[in-house]
Amino acid sequence: MIDRRDFIKAGMLAACGGSLWLAAPRARAATDAYQLTASAGEVRIEADQQQATQVMYYNQSIPGPLLRLPQGRESVIRFRNRLDEPSTVHWHGLRIENAMDGVPGMTQAAVAPGEDFDYRLTPPDAGTYWYHSHTRSWIQQALGLAGVLIVDEVEPPRIDRDLVLAIDDWRFDEAMQMDTASFGSMHDWSHGGRLGNYLTANGKPEETFEVMSGERVRLRLVNTANSRIMYLLLEEPQSSIVALDGQPVSPRVPDGGRIRLAPGQRCDLIIDLVGDPGQRSRIEILVGEYAYEVARFAYGPEVRREQLLDTPIALPDNPVNRVRLPQDFVEATMLMEGGAMGGMRSATYQGREMDIRELVKLGKVWAINGVVDLPEEPLLRVDRGTAVSLQIINDNGWPHAMHVHGHHFVDDREPGVWRDTSLFARGEKSSLRFVADNPGKWLIHCHMTEHMAAGMVTWFQVD
Ligand code: C2O
Ligand code: CU
Repeated sequence: MIDRRDFIKAGMLAACGGSLWLAAPRARAATDAYQLTASAGEVRIEADQQQATQVMYYNQSIPGPLLRLPQGRESVIRFRNRLDEPSTVHWHGLRIENAMDGVPGMTQAAVAPGEDFDYRLTPPDAGTYWYHSHTRSWIQQALGLAGVLIVDEVEPPRIDRDLVLAIDDWRFDEAMQMDTASFGSMHDWSHGGRLGNYLTANGKPEETFEVMSGERVRLRLVNTANSRIMYLLLEEPQSSIVALDGQPVSPRVPDGGRIRLAPGQRCDLIIDLVGDPGQRSRIEILVGEYAYEVARFAYGPEVRREQLLDTPIALPDNPVNRVRLPQDFVEATMLMEGGAMGGMRSATYQGREMDIRELVKLGKVWAINGVVDLPEEPLLRVDRGTAVSLQIINDNGWPHAMHVHGHHFVDDREPGVWRDTSLFARGEKSSLRFVADNPGKWLIHCHMTEHMAAGMVTWFQVD
């Protein structure tokens, strides 16, 4: 193991990780009301760090508070903007009303400093989601404006512990201050995005889950990084993936114990803990050729169960899982171009054709169908209930985590899996299929926040 401080010094892509703020109170009052206050402030990520890290956060915590909402019932979340800049909150993966989606200039006006906005959320699907700033997210999210949101099943599966592991990627200097000078770095924007040099798990360098042998736990993994694709390695042999991007899947064993999480993606596991009392087992992130322990299970001296539970681990279906995709689709294509070594010569930006030099000066280096940033006309405009097939062609040198707002889709590469974010390696293409059943204007964009800021974003409309 390499000391994490050396890493920062070496300026390498390093890491560490972990903390769980254990499940918030399960049962809330009849009116599920929360307050979410965004402000600037400071936190100590390492208990003994000399100078606290300057951040932006929700409710003065990194990550923001764990929100637990009931399935199918309205919750009101009062967002209070106490930053000195506008902000909005996006509820990533929730199939909610368009006006609550948090996209400034499209679904709402940005919430001005000192103002409040009530988000009314009635999530139809249970599962693991998250929330983050959708206003200059390449800065606000990087500074800490993100948190985990759980929608509880009406009938949750039987488990002993519900654990959350939100992993983030930060770029710090030696004093553990945010490297703000590199915000807007054209190198980052035209390559793989802002990659950090410090990983946290639940806002801490490392997370330790105290467990007992024989327990069945649910582990919810969330990648809240700006741009880092994470490869996690789990030492527990009895681990099954039971949900991806919030939606139940037929339980499957992670391939080689490895789980890939692109920015914005989630993965729920059910794990039967088979270690011995006193043992530890690791959760690692692979960065290049190194494996960093971001979290661990620490077994206490007792045994919860000699005999593992043999009840099924599958999660109950969500409404979206019962959608039957038809044979006929309205089709659209998204050709994704640009970036370093991508060979894009020109594109249209703000209605004007520009050559690549001009675009680079403006920091706009990615295009979808030849257009940088939001086109005036939607990519697609359909009536509610139309089945849509979006063919995405990644014709450039970089991977992209494509996210569709307000809907879950099935990617042709993963039949039977309903996702909201799908990773396209360079050169890859595939179609995302879904029924456009949620009226409004919805974004489709790369969730590497720098790529989005540099133009990789479009939208569609459901009437
Ligand atoms: Cu998680 Cu448009 O975002
Ligand atoms: Cu991208």
